Parts: sequence; C-alpha cells; structure tokens
Amino acid sequence: MSKDLMRAIQYSKYGGGAAALKHVEVPIPTPKKDEVLIKVEAAGINPIDWKIQKGIARPFLPRKFPFIPGTDVAGEIIKVGPGVKNFKVGDKVVAVLGNGGGLAEFAVAKEGSTVARPSEVSAVEAAALPIAGLAAHQSLTKAAGVKLDGSGQQVNILITAASGGVGQYAVQLAKLGNTHVTATCGARNIDLVKSLGADEVLDYKTPDGAALKSPSGLKYDVVIHCTTGIPWSTFEPNLSSNGKVVDTTPGVSTLMSVAVKKLTCSKKQLIPVFTDPKKENLEYLVKLVQEEKLKPVIDSKHPLSKAEDAWAKSIDGHATGKIIVEP
Ligand SMILES: NC(=O)c1ccc[n+]([C@@H]2O[C@H](COP(=O)([O-])OP(=O)(O)OC[C@H]3O[C@@H](n4cnc5c(N)ncnc54)[C@H](OP(=O)(O)O)[C@@H]3O)[C@@H](O)[C@H]2O)c1
Repeated sequence: MSKDLMRAIQYSKYGGGAAALKHVEVPIPTPKKDEVLIKVEAAGINPIDWKIQKGIARPFLPRKFPFIPGTDVAGEIIKVGPGVKNFKVGDKVVAVLGNGGGLAEFAVAKEGSTVARPSEVSAVEAAALPIAGLAAHQSLTKAAGVKLDGSGQQVNILITAASGGVGQYAVQLAKLGNTHVTATCGARNIDLVKSLGADEVLDYKTPDGAALKSPSGLKYDVVIHCTTGIPWSTFEPNLSSNGKVVDTTPGVSTLMSVAVKKLTCSKKQLIPVFTDPKKENLEYLVKLVQEEKLKPVIDSKHPLSKAEDAWAKSIDGHATGKIIVEP
C-alpha cells in the first residue's frame, strides 16, 4: 500500500447493514487548522453508527457518500493542524468524531473534541467511553440532577438494559452518587451487573422484570432508560410522585408523551436525552477510568478486516458492554 493510503470501511448509500460495508484504500486525511490526525488504535461501535447508515440523521449525516462510519476513537496523534495549541505529535488521545471516520487506520478529530489519554487507560478502554459514557453521564447529571460526588439527596434509580454500552456506565456512575440502583438485564448478565454495583437486578424476561417491579418494593425517583420498547404505562406505576424517566432513545412516541405531560402539568416527567459530547465530561470519564473508579466492560474486539462482524453484532442488540474494532 502507498504510504499516503490507508485501509478503511465505507458505505455508499443508506441501508444494507453489515453487508453494505466495503473495505477500501483511501487517502489518509489531512488535518485542518484546528484538527489533529490520529493513528487509530481502537474504535468503539455505537448503535448511532448503524442508525446513521439506516438514515436516522438524514440529510445531515452522512454529509456525503461514500462515508467512513465511526464516532469514538483512541490512538496517537501523528500530525497537528497549524492552529492546534494543546496537543503535539506523539500524544495519546481519545476523541469524538462529529462527521464519522473512525473505522479506518487514521482519522481527523477537532482539537475541541479530543482529550488526553493517560498511560493507565488503554486504547480499548478509551475507545469504549465517548458516546455511551457521555450519554450515561448526561442522563444522570444534567437530565436527572444526580450529583456524582454523592452530595445530593438519596434517590432510587432504575437503569434499564444495564448490560449494554450505556447502561453499564449508568450503573457505575450512579453508584458514585448517593443512589440505590435497581437494574434490568438478561439472566446471563445478572452477576456482571451486580458486580458493577447494582443493588438489585431484574431479569427483563420474567413477569416482574418486564413490569419493572423493584424486588424490595421501592418506587423509582429516576429511571435511566437505555433500551427501546417499554411504554410509559409500564414505567408510570413504578415511579415516585415526582419520578422522572430519562429516555436515551427518544422516538416520536417519547416526544408526544413529553408534550402531553407538559400540557397536563404532570408531576411525573419524561425527559429525552440527545448527547452533547462535552470535552470536560469526557475528561472526567477518562479520569475515573484512570483512578479505577469506572471500568468499561468490553463485549468483543474485532480486527478492522472483520469490522462487518462488529457492525452486525451491534445491530443484533445483544452486546454485553462495548464492541471494539482494532485497525
Ligand atoms: N440519546 C443519545 O444521545 C444516545 C447515546 C448513546 C446511545 N443511545 C441509545 O441508547 C440505546 C442503548 O445503547 P447501547 O449502546 O447501550 O446499546 P447496546 O449496547 O446495543 O445494548 C445491548 C444490551 O441491551 C440489553 N437489552 C436489550 N433490550 C433490553 C430490555 N428490554 N431490557 C433490559 N435489557 C435489554 C441486551 O441484553 P440481552 O442481550 O440479554 O437481550 C444487551 O446486553 C440505543 O438505542 C442507542 O441508540 C442514545
């Protein structure tokens, strides 16, 4: 391969899933003024990556075809744009890519979306953090008002799909706050979710699990909802009088329910979350991993040459933790 080319994964139209991913050789991108060029050591897959392929962000993303997907990357900086102030060649980093590009040997990231990665945090752990970790962090702090330093009032939290990419972080972060955590997951992940700190765990395929009933009879002040397909009527009887459901996967029905609750002045609230990838929050998560207060759970690692397996696994919806691709 020419030294100016890199291996990457691309798709050229909406739809098609893993079968539509192509292995290509394309020019290594050049960082603009405020960008860094990263030699990718690990990339994390998120459901948003294949939802973009399905057309969820049309017409904004992809901005054009062919498109290299991938939002979360960790690696080493090998070139910096002329306006970059805080990074230099050789720095180990983790970044959130606003316009894809992660499933490749090299990727450009905005300096403002790039965070230093200390030596204690591996590339795989770092690549597992951004979108899922930031979604969990924002849901708990900004949307639900939980103070992760434990200085707030004790609250009872339910976390759905606690074995998934977002849920595993939500459980661990919630336990840093002053919270009692009930979590749902499949039977095979109950021990794992307990080991992340959950106080009680429900198998979502049992009648009580499907009804979200706390084994100890608690009502939830906050629900961090990390999957789809659970209607408001299932949450409602389990909420305390001012309970909030924070929905990380808001669809049309969520937005309609939010409007109805506003109109009827309901005390029980439904709050949609759209992750705002704030640099300081990613720095906070990296620091927690460095201090061993947060441990990313890794479902599986796949070489770039088999990226379609990682893509198909994410679409399948049964990952335990994060799916990683390594160039
Ligand atoms: N709003 C935002 O900005 C934002 C950011 C990140 C993610 N998200 C969204 O959040 C959702 C979760 O993302 P993710 O990365 O955590 O997904 P994920 O890793 O693919 O979730 C898979 C896990 O969910 C479990 N699960 C599925 N249905 C469940 C149910 N009804 N009850 C309990 N567990 C269930 C599965 O367990 P089994 O294998 O046992 O079935 C599996 O372990 C996605 O829809 C994603 O698009 C939104």
